[in-house]
Amino acid sequence: AGTPTRATIHADTPGPVYDKDIFTQFAEHLGEGIYGGLWVGEDSAIPNTNGFRNDVVGALRDLSVPVIRWPGGCFADEYHWREGVGPRKDRPTKVNTHWGGVTEPNTVGTHEFFELTRQVGAEAYVAGNVGNGSPREMAEWIEYMTAPAGTLAEERAENGHKEPWKVKYFGVGNELWGCGGNMRPEYAADVTRRYSTFIKPPADTKILKVAAGANVEDYNWTEQMMKIAGNMLDGLSLHYYVHPAGGWPPRAPAVDFDESGWADALHEAWRMDELITKHSAIMDKYDPEKRLFLAVDEWGSWYAQDEGTHPGFLRQQNTMRDALIAAINLDIFAKHADRVRMTAIAQMVNVLQAMIFTKDDQMVLTPTYHVFEMYKPWQDATVLPIDIQTPTYKVGDYTLPAVSGSAVKGKDGKIHVGLSNADAKEANTVTIALDGVKAGKVSGRILTAGAINAHNTFENPEVVKPAAFNGARVKGGTLTVTLPAKSVVVLELQ
Ligand code: AHR
Repeated sequence: AGTPTRATIHADTPGPVYDKDIFTQFAEHLGEGIYGGLWVGEDSAIPNTNGFRNDVVGALRDLSVPVIRWPGGCFADEYHWREGVGPRKDRPTKVNTHWGGVTEPNTVGTHEFFELTRQVGAEAYVAGNVGNGSPREMAEWIEYMTAPAGTLAEERAENGHKEPWKVKYFGVGNELWGCGGNMRPEYAADVTRRYSTFIKPPADTKILKVAAGANVEDYNWTEQMMKIAGNMLDGLSLHYYVHPAGGWPPRAPAVDFDESGWADALHEAWRMDELITKHSAIMDKYDPEKRLFLAVDEWGSWYAQDEGTHPGFLRQQNTMRDALIAAINLDIFAKHADRVRMTAIAQMVNVLQAMIFTKDDQMVLTPTYHVFEMYKPWQDATVLPIDIQTPTYKVGDYTLPAVSGSAVKGKDGKIHVGLSNADAKEANTVTIALDGVKAGKVSGRILTAGAINAHNTFENPEVVKPAAFNGARVKGGTLTVTLPAKSVVVLELQ
């Protein structure tokens, strides 16, 4: 095995809560993200409940998805909510101009979205239309969703839902610097102030307002938003995607990569740490009490679309590399959990770094899905600070930490440790000092595979799946773990 890694878990100085909303998932009207992936319709031969496929909803329930972000993305800033309520047969169809130029039937609208959240057991993050919608349209949508009485509440009841819904988060537009209107930051901040004024939940209820935040390292965006609009917001977003092979436009293949492509992507994943640190430092200037949260509400890998798939559908396979990307990010969020209290992976089904793929009546779980499942105990757990002195892993031009990790005290009272080894070839033995923990027993699970690009298909759906892990020992306040090459491990201490 390679150079030993040393670490300390400071269980005696617990940190902030790892907010369960960090496990939010993003579902956009994009490709087969909604239609086919989640919604098949009540008359479909695919088993469904009120139109949503039972297999996918079941798998999402197993993950305890806390929040679903909908309807976009770029789609949100062209979405007119009125087109998606009322009898489905009367709803207008339109062109999804942003994603593939396909027909958007408006079959899944507000009522269907909340039905999905009900079935999954998740809360709602609704993204409003600032791009080509008006403050009035936004205000009326919020009233339609949340008002207990009045004409819009009556219309909601006539359309089948008497009780108001709860909107936990509302996005004041999306990517206002780009598809949301190509605004400059000062203007976007003023627009955000204006629209936010009309986000009015009913008395005694609260909607958390999330402003459209920066693209990657646009620190001036964060500065202006905080300075001009910060006092009217609850959260500010950040979007960052892993684009190996030189950035935008996405060109790296999702499966056909070598060790250099592996290291490139994981190196890019680690950039999240620097981005959060720098955006947070700006937020600290204006909000030292950390009243606002940084919502990394789009993150994940973005490769070239899979061959033969529809242009504009962003369908990409998901390999062991994506499992590492997910684990590294979830660990980074632990380090910044005082400021990062919500994030959303892009996306839920069939799009980008997807949790789940579907094809007709078939469903397959991705390596990313398995990491989210393994990290479930992190939801609303207490972060235990961890210092890791890791060797570096170097491939050509790419140098990155070999070992990533995080530790929490779960709501179950147990200590959970996540560790991953980015090294594609070498195992890594990690010796962890447990400060303030008495543990006599350790058990674990591992996600690994024979190849760095191993992935699950409809034909072979279980190539990458979690297995029991026996490579950890705990004795006298020291935990020793041998992480196989290219692996994600979670441990439970008792
Ligand atoms: O997730 C895909 C797209 O990426 C979203 O619609 C947009 O917000 C971002 O550019």
